[in-house]
Amino acid sequence: MNVEKSLQKEELKQRILRLKKEKKAVILAHYYQQGDIQDIADHIGDSLALAQYAATLEDAEIIVLCGVHFMGETAKLLCPGKKVLVPDAAAGCSLADSCPAEDFAAFIKEHPGHMVVSYVNTSVGVKALTDVLVTSGNARKIIDSLPADAKIIFGPDRNLGNYINSQTGRQMVLWDGACHVHEQFSLEKILELKKEHPGAKILVHPECRKQLVLVADAVGSTAALLDYARKSDAKEFIVATESGILHQMRKDCPEKTFIPAPPNDSTCACNDCSYMKLNTLQKLYDCLLNETPEITIDPALAEAARRPIERMLELS
Ligand code: 13P
Ligand code: SF4
Repeated sequence: MNVEKSLQKEELKQRILRLKKEKKAVILAHYYQQGDIQDIADHIGDSLALAQYAATLEDAEIIVLCGVHFMGETAKLLCPGKKVLVPDAAAGCSLADSCPAEDFAAFIKEHPGHMVVSYVNTSVGVKALTDVLVTSGNARKIIDSLPADAKIIFGPDRNLGNYINSQTGRQMVLWDGACHVHEQFSLEKILELKKEHPGAKILVHPECRKQLVLVADAVGSTAALLDYARKSDAKEFIVATESGILHQMRKDCPEKTFIPAPPNDSTCACNDCSYMKLNTLQKLYDCLLNETPEITIDPALAEAARRPIERMLELS
């Protein structure tokens, strides 16, 4: 990067920090955000930590959620009296999109007597149909806390659902959805990498397909994978999740090597979530300055959508 550009970037960061103070705003960022955004956030975390942190914010007047839309909605549901902003309103989620609320309602109707457990990567409409939400960080614990004979529908991620079924011995009925980033990783290329780096540990997010989970040394949320990397004695890691997490891994463990797992098609930038990467420092600055785009929730759905999030936080 040339000197002028990096000066502009530093100036932008200083302006964001000044505005944030003036407006009593708090910046929350997911681990998949670009590094510059992670570096100036007040708090970075996985989906669970961001929801838990939002729920504790009392003094802030504005929350800026640097992540994807459903994360902003979760923060708004937990903090209805605060202004919740996102840098780019178009930052959606292919997994949430794979489960339209009307279709999910029909699926629930086809399975009478089932509890509905949903992954937090869902629309407000799907949350409103849900008994309890989970994230990848607490899914196992929450499913384990449900009655042993409970019949359960799990949506929308079939890979996370299959993983939880394998860990808990449950036979949850799964919605057939998936994330376009995590479905892309190539088992063959990961195994080739492992041959070149025999000491490397393979870190896999549970949104990945089963064949990857089977070769993993650690399976977990972004925060859990980061924690594993920090504590492990290994020096090399092959990381099968969105590339943004590498920033924090490299920052926290500068003496270790993190190798992004290759996607099937090596000509694409499939390790990047195109939605997460819509957010930029400039958009973060603009959104704080203009206080837009703001997250609003359909009042007819808010109460029903908040309940499963609160239940999740109680059980976490
Ligand atoms: P985490 O909750 O593990 O951070 O995952 C969020 C997500 O969107 C994964 O694709
Ligand atoms: Fe959604 Fe996948 Fe992006 Fe996560 S990585 S926000 S699941 S599209």
